[in-house]
Amino acid sequence: MPPMGNGKGPDARNKYSGKPKNTGAVIKRLFAYLNDYKGKIIFAFVCVVVSTASNLAGSYMLRPIINGLVEEGSAEEKIVRLLSRVAVMALIYLFGVLANYLQQRTMIQVSQNSLFNLRKELFTKMQRLPVRFFDTRSTGEIMSRYTNDVDTIGEMLNTTIVQIFQGSIQLIGTLALMLYTNVFLTLVTLVTTPLMALVGTTIAKKSRKYFNRQQSALGVVNGYVEETVTGQNVVKVFCHEDKIIEGFTERNEKLRDAQVRAQFVGGIMGPVMNAMGQVSYTLIATVGALLCLTTGITRLDVGGLSVFVNYSRQFSRPINELSQQMTVIMSALAGAERVFEVMDAPNEYDGLEGDIELKNVHGDVIVDNVTFGYNPEKTILKNISMYAHPGQKIALVGSTGAGKTTIMNLITRFYDVNSGTITIDGIPIERIKKDSLRENIAMVLQDTHLFTGTVMENIRYGRLDATDSEVMRAAKTASAHMFIKHLPLGYETVLSGDGSNLSQGQRQLLNIARASLSKAQILILDEATSSVDTRTEQEINKGMDALMENRTTFVIAHRLSTIRNSDAIMVLENGEIIERGTHDELLEKKGRYYELYTGLKELD
Ligand SMILES: Nc1ncnc2c1ncn2[C@@H]1O[C@H](COP(=O)(O)OP(=O)(O)O)[C@@H](O)[C@H]1O
Ligand SMILES: [Mg+2]
Repeated sequence: MPPMGNGKGPDARNKYSGKPKNTGAVIKRLFAYLNDYKGKIIFAFVCVVVSTASNLAGSYMLRPIINGLVEEGSAEEKIVRLLSRVAVMALIYLFGVLANYLQQRTMIQVSQNSLFNLRKELFTKMQRLPVRFFDTRSTGEIMSRYTNDVDTIGEMLNTTIVQIFQGSIQLIGTLALMLYTNVFLTLVTLVTTPLMALVGTTIAKKSRKYFNRQQSALGVVNGYVEETVTGQNVVKVFCHEDKIIEGFTERNEKLRDAQVRAQFVGGIMGPVMNAMGQVSYTLIATVGALLCLTTGITRLDVGGLSVFVNYSRQFSRPINELSQQMTVIMSALAGAERVFEVMDAPNEYDGLEGDIELKNVHGDVIVDNVTFGYNPEKTILKNISMYAHPGQKIALVGSTGAGKTTIMNLITRFYDVNSGTITIDGIPIERIKKDSLRENIAMVLQDTHLFTGTVMENIRYGRLDATDSEVMRAAKTASAHMFIKHLPLGYETVLSGDGSNLSQGQRQLLNIARASLSKAQILILDEATSSVDTRTEQEINKGMDALMENRTTFVIAHRLSTIRNSDAIMVLENGEIIERGTHDELLEKKGRYYELYTGLKELD
C-alpha cells in the first residue's frame, strides 16, 4: 500500500492561520461586499453606540443609588429615592438591550447576505474554471475555500467588526466616566491596567503557539484516520493493521503532548489573570477608600467608589478582546485573499473562445500534427496526426500512460494544444463556441461519476430533455436495464455517495447509458467497459454498435477483441503513434499491435 501520507488532510490547516499578503487590497475588496448594505451597517453601528452608552450610563446609575442611601432623609424618602433611581437604571438598561438586539439582527442579516453573495460568486466562478485548475489541486484544498475560509470571513463580518467598534467605544466611554468620577484614581488605574494587559498578551502569545501546534497535530491525526478509513480494505488485504496502529499511536502521542501543553498554558491564563485582577481590585479599592476620607479635589463619595471599582474591572476587558480579535481578522483576511485568488484565476478560454456554432455536424475530425504537454517542461504528445471520417470508428491502443486519454482531452478542449490543429468538419476547434463543441461530443470517461439523485436523473444527465422512455431505451442500449430493474426501486432508486451502492461495472453501464442519450455526432469511449465482465461487454457491444452507427467514434479499449472491427487502429507509445492500420493489416505487420494482440506483451 502507498505510504500513509503526512496526514495533511483537509483539516490539517488551523482555521485561524495565515496572514494576508496584501492587507489593504483585501480589505477594500471584502468591504465591497458590504457596499449594498451601507444603510443597515450604519443603523447597526448606531445601535452599538446606543447599547454601549446605555450600558455605561446604567452602571453609572449605581452612584446616585448608593449615595441616595447615605444621604440625609427619612427611611421613606430613601426608599422612594431608591426605587425611582433603580427604575431609571432599569429603563436605561432596557433601552440598551433593545439596541443590542436590533444590532445583532441587522449584522446577522448583513453578514449572511454578504456570505451568500460570496459563496454564490465563488461557486459560479468554479463552474467557469478550466479542467486544469481542478487537476492541479486537491479536493480538500478547494473545499477549504468554502468551509474554513468563508467561515472565518463570516465570523469577522458577523461579530468581530462590531466587537472592535463596541470595544473602542466602551474603552473611551469607560475612561471618560472614570475621569469624571475621580481623576486621581483614574491615574492609578492607568498604571495597573497596562501591566495586566502586558502579562495577558504574553501568556496569550505563548498559548497561541501551543494552540497552533495542537491544531496541526489534530489535523495529522484526523488525516491519518481519514486515509485509513477510506483505505480500510487495502489495509486489511495487505495485513497492515499492526503497522497502521503503530503509526497511529505515534501521531496520537504527539497530539496528546501538544494538547497537554496547550491546555496547560491555556488553563493557567484564567487563574493568573484573575489573581492579577484581584490584586489591582484590592489596590484600587484601598486607594479609593482612602480617597473617600479626604476632602477637596481628590474627595470621592461611596457611590463613586463602587462604580469606579466596576469600571476599572471593565476597563481592561476591551483591550484583551481587541487583541484576540486581531487573530480572527488576520485569518479572515488571509482566507479572503485565498478566496479572491480563486475568483481571479483565469476562466476556461479566457478571451479565447470561438464564436462559431456547429450545425448539422457530420463528424469529420482531423488531428493534425499536434504536440502537447500538461506543463511546459514535459511534452506528452508528439506530432500526433490522425483523422476520422464521418461515421468511422477509430481505436486507440497502447499501454497505460501512453497518452490516449490526453488526446481525448484535447479534442474536447479540456486542454489546448501547444502546436498543431484539431478540426471538426474543417473548423478549428478553438473557433467553435465551447458549449457548441461539447454538445456535439458525447463522452464516456475512464473515471465514472454519479451525482446524488435517482438512477433516472443520473442517466438523464446525458440529455436533460429526454423523456422517461428515452432514458429507458438508452439504459437498454447500455445493457443497464436489467440490473436497474433489480434495484430496490428500479429507476427511482436514489444513488448517493458517487453511486457507492453500485459495482464499478454497473456505474460504467450508467455512464454509457448517459452517453447513449446524447444526440452528439461524435462519441468518445475511454475504457468505457474496463470494469465490466467479458459477457456483459459482449452484450453491450451489440448496443454499442447501434450507438456508434452513423457517429464518429473514438474508442480507447482495454480488451482488444472489442476494437477488431474498427476502421483504423492507432497504436500509441510514449505519446507517439507508432503504428496505424486495420486489425488485419496490423496483425500482418507483426509489430507492436501484434505483440499486444497475441498477448506477448502485457496490456494495461
Ligand atoms: N492532468 C495531468 N497533468 C499532468 N500530467 C498528466 C495529466 N494527466 C495525464 N498526465 C500524464 O500524461 C501522460 C499520458 O497520460 P494519459 O493520456 O492519461 O495516458 P493513457 O490514457 O494512455 O493511459 C502520463 O504520463 C500522465 O502521467
Ligand atoms: Mg487513459
